[in-house]
Amino acid sequence: MLFKAKVLLIGIILTLVITLLLSLLYVRELENGGSVQLKEQVPILKSNKLGIVIPFRERFDELLEFIPHIHSFLENQNVLHEIFVINQVDQYRFNRGSLINAGFKEIISSYNTIDYIAMHDVDLLPLNPALDYHYPPSGHVNHISAPHLHPRYHYASFVGGILLITKEDFMQMNGLSNNYWGWGLEDDEFYLRLKEAKIGIHRPGNLTTGTLNTFRHNHDRAIRKRDMTKCYNQREVTRKRDRHTGLHNVNYVLKKKHELLIDGVSSIVLNINLKCNKTLTPWCLCSEYSVKNTKNLKKE
Ligand SMILES: *[C@@H]1O[C@H](CO)[C@@H](O)[C@H](O)[C@H]1NC(C)=O
Ligand SMILES: *[C@@H]1O[C@H](CO)[C@@H](O)[C@H](O)[C@H]1NC(C)=O
Repeated sequence: MLFKAKVLLIGIILTLVITLLLSLLYVRELENGGSVQLKEQVPILKSNKLGIVIPFRERFDELLEFIPHIHSFLENQNVLHEIFVINQVDQYRFNRGSLINAGFKEIISSYNTIDYIAMHDVDLLPLNPALDYHYPPSGHVNHISAPHLHPRYHYASFVGGILLITKEDFMQMNGLSNNYWGWGLEDDEFYLRLKEAKIGIHRPGNLTTGTLNTFRHNHDRAIRKRDMTKCYNQREVTRKRDRHTGLHNVNYVLKKKHELLIDGVSSIVLNINLKCNKTLTPWCLCSEYSVKNTKNLKKE
């Protein structure tokens, strides 16, 4: 009986000692060879990829300058990017908001490597290398063409020109309103969406350049007359926050995709045919309005 107890005791002690030795060995293993294993498990930090989204129509000469310029500008900053020209091919007035919405939808469905976009005017060329096109700070959009830098627009709530936004934030805000046919104001409505979504606006600071030399505004107002016409009740409707239209109900058909190579820089052209519901936004064509009014005048 006593002998059996001794054997049992020795057995227990041996087991404990062996367990201790093994666990010590295991710790060694972790300290030496184990670290290699750990390194393999740390994911390699992937750079975010930017989609340059250019709402576009009939400005080929400006595009010829813009594409090579933005490409080398972003290469110098090591910003991974792809350039998308959203080309409006229907007969309606220019609709910047809907073009960006349509372009975004196409990017999401066919180019899912894009993490954030720049809504980018084709006639605004960044000159100062300190303008940072990397992924925006968390909870913010990055308004590159800030009021204190833009050649022309200096009001505090201005968010037009060049705006960087993450894919997630753009979706959360339901994109831009689709009601803005003709030139202007869609960016001011977008400002209201940003405010409501509590998304902050980051703007470049500490630049040594100002309104005259931060950008080149490649726009000749004499040649490129802006479509400022307002018809039907457009003026009234487009002054308000639009809670009905946006990314989720932009109505368009993708007619064609082209790959465009300019000076060795490739871009993707999406030909977009926008649809207009004339009950909702009769001002997508003002020419019909003036014809109608002329007729009325003749009757009188
Ligand atoms: C500008 O520079 C100051 C001082 O170096 C720094 O504290 C501040 O964060 C900078 N601002 C921006 C927007 O980079
Ligand atoms: C246009 O909008 C009106 C009002 O919302 C709606 O009743 C109608 O069905 C729409 N028409 C088309 C073709 O979608």
